[in-house]
Amino acid sequence: MQSKSFYITTPIYYPSDRLHIGHAYCTTLADTIARYKRLNGFDVFFLTGSDEHGQKIQRKAQEQQVTPIAYVDKIVATFQHLWKQLHISNDDFIRTTEKRHYDLVQAIFQKIYDQGDIYKAAYEGWYCTPCETFWLERQLNDGKCPDCGRPVEMVQEESYFFRMSKYQDRLLKYIEENPDFIQPISRRNEMINFIKSGLEDLCVSRTTFDWGIPVPFDTKHVVYVWFDALSNYITAAGYLNDREKFAKYWPADIHLVGKEIVRFHSIIWPIMLMALGIELPKMVYGHGWLVVEGDKMSKSKGNVIDPLALIDEFGADAIRYFLLREITLGSDGNFSRDALINRINADLANDLGNLLHRTLNMIGRFNDGIILAPGAMESIDNELATLARNTVAGYERYMDRLEINAALKEVWALISRTNKYIDETAPWSLAKDPNQQERLNTVLYSLAETLRIVSILISPYMPATAPKIWSQLGIRTDFAKMQLQDAQQWGGLEVGIKVAQPQPIFPRIEDKPVADKKPVPEIQPVQTPEVSIDEFAKMDLRVAKVIAAEKVAKADKLLKLLVDLGDEQRTIVSGIAQHYTPEELVGKNVVMIINLKPAKIRGIESRGMVLAASCDGKLTLVTAPDMPAGSKVK
Ligand code: MSP
Repeated sequence: MQSKSFYITTPIYYPSDRLHIGHAYCTTLADTIARYKRLNGFDVFFLTGSDEHGQKIQRKAQEQQVTPIAYVDKIVATFQHLWKQLHISNDDFIRTTEKRHYDLVQAIFQKIYDQGDIYKAAYEGWYCTPCETFWLERQLNDGKCPDCGRPVEMVQEESYFFRMSKYQDRLLKYIEENPDFIQPISRRNEMINFIKSGLEDLCVSRTTFDWGIPVPFDTKHVVYVWFDALSNYITAAGYLNDREKFAKYWPADIHLVGKEIVRFHSIIWPIMLMALGIELPKMVYGHGWLVVEGDKMSKSKGNVIDPLALIDEFGADAIRYFLLREITLGSDGNFSRDALINRINADLANDLGNLLHRTLNMIGRFNDGIILAPGAMESIDNELATLARNTVAGYERYMDRLEINAALKEVWALISRTNKYIDETAPWSLAKDPNQQERLNTVLYSLAETLRIVSILISPYMPATAPKIWSQLGIRTDFAKMQLQDAQQWGGLEVGIKVAQPQPIFPRIEDKPVADKKPVPEIQPVQTPEVSIDEFAKMDLRVAKVIAAEKVAKADKLLKLLVDLGDEQRTIVSGIAQHYTPEELVGKNVVMIINLKPAKIRGIESRGMVLAASCDGKLTLVTAPDMPAGSKVK
C-alpha cells in the first residue's frame, strides 16, 4: 500500500536554446531523488517542463522568422528527447503554452486582482530580458544586470503590480520559523537579507510584446513570465481541475532549482501562494552550477557541453553517475572529460564491473552457474553481511538528507570491500578441494547477495545498469518491483537460480587518459640475502598459458596478458612490450608467480607476474613449453 506522497520539481527550462550538461545535471538530480523516494515506498509525483513565454523567446522566434509557437515546439521536442535518453522518469511534462496552464494563470491572476492584491499603475524601470527580471536603479551593477552582467533596457509602461510589500513580514516570519524551507543555509541567509532590505511591489504584466498569457480583464497586457512560470507547479498538481490530486501532492516537498533562481522561488512564489491562501512548499533547494574546466559555460566561449553527445559516447548511466558522484549538492562542480573517463574506468569498469565479472565467472566455473545454498557463515562472511546492512542504513540516511554523493561513496565502500573479500577467501583455492564445497558455496552466495543489494541501491542513480546486473545474476523477481526494504535483509537472494554469462556493463575507455597515473613498477636490481627452503616454498610458481595479449594504451612498455592456470584465468600486466609482440606471446607456456600481492597498474589489476631473464637490455621469458598449464615450478 502506498500512503506517503512526495512531490519534486525541476525548474521549467526556457526553450531559447538546446539544453546543456548543466540543465541535465539539475534534472538528473531530481530524477535520482524521485527514484529513491519511489524505492522507499513513496507515491511520487515528479514534474519537469518548459517555460515558453516572454520577451526573450518572442525575439528569438522573430530572429528566425517563425511564429513563437513553431519555434518553441521544435526546441521542446529536443528537451523531451534528451530526458528520454537520460532515463528521466518524470510523471508529467508541463508546457506553459498548454490550455490547462493558461486557464490556471488567468484564474489566479483574476483572484488576486479581485481581492485587491494586484493593482494598476505606471511603471518605469530597468529590465533584463535574458533573465526576464525587473531591477531598480539602485540594484544595478555598473548599470548592468546584477545577476548576469548583461545590459538592461529601460521599460516605461502601464502595468499591473502585485502587492509583495504587504506580505513581507509574513514571509520573513515563515522563513525564520521553517529552517528547512530554503536550503542550503547560505542561500537562506542571502534571502533573509534580501527581504530585510525591503520588498517592492512587483510588476506582473507587460504591454510591449504579446507572447504571453493575456491578463483576463485587460487583454492588451500579458502576464509577467515569472508569475506565469512559477504557477506551473500548481497547474500540474491539479489546483484548478483535480482537487484530489492536489490534496495528495501539495505542498511540494522539494523545488530543486539553480542557485540564481532561488530568489524567485523563495520570495515571489511563496507570496503568490500566500495571496492565494495555498500552503507553501516544504523546501526550495538551490543547487550549484556546473562549470567546464573551471569556466562558466557559454556559447561565446565555445565551451557548451552537449549532453546528448556525451550519452552517445559513454552511455546515460555513466554520465548520471559522474554528475551525482563528482558534485556535492549545493556547491558548484566541475565538468572535465578526463575526470569523467577516470570515474568510468576506476569506479564503474574496475570496481563495480570487475566485482560482477569475477563473481559470475566463478559461479559459472565452479558451480555450473548455479547459486547454491550457503553453509555456515564464518566471521569474514558475517562481517560482509553486517557491512551490507550498515551500508543500506547509511545510504538511506544520506539520501534523506540529500547528501547524494555521500550515499554513493557508502555503496562504493561496500563494493571495494567485496572485491577484497574475493581475494581473502580465494574461491579458486576452495574450488580445488571437494571438502570445501560448502565453504565455496557460502563465499559465492555472499558475493552474489552483495551484488543483489548493490543493484537495488544504485538503481536511482543508474536505472539502466541496475536491472542489467539483476538479470545477469539470474534473479527471477521483477526488478521494477524492488523496494529499499528488499536491500535491508541479508539473504534475500534465491537459491538454485542460474547466473548468466558475464557481460561487461561498463567497458573501460582505453584510448583516453586513465585513472591511475601511478608509475609502472620497474624491475629493480636487489641485494639478495639468503632465504630458507621454506621461505622459497612460499612463492607459488606455476606454468601459465598465454591466451590473449594486448598493448596497454599509452604505456609503451606494458602488455596486458590473459593467462590460463589450468582451473583459473587471470589478467596480469607485464613490462615486456619492448621485447615481445602480443602475437608472439599467445600460446606460450610462461612461468609466473601467482601469489604475488595484486597490484593496480594503469588502472588494471595485475594478479601475478611472469618470470624473465634479463641482461644488458635483453630480456627472455622463462618458459616451460611441454608442461600443462597450472604445473607447479619448484
Ligand atoms: N525558466 C526559468 C525557470 C523557471 S522555474 C519556474 C529558467 N530557465 S533556464 O532554462 O534559464 O534555467 C533553468 C535551470 O537551469 C536553472 O535552475 C539554472 O540554474 C539551471 N542551469 C543553467 N545552467 C546551469 C549550469 N551550468 N549548471 C547547473 N545548472 C544550470 O531559469
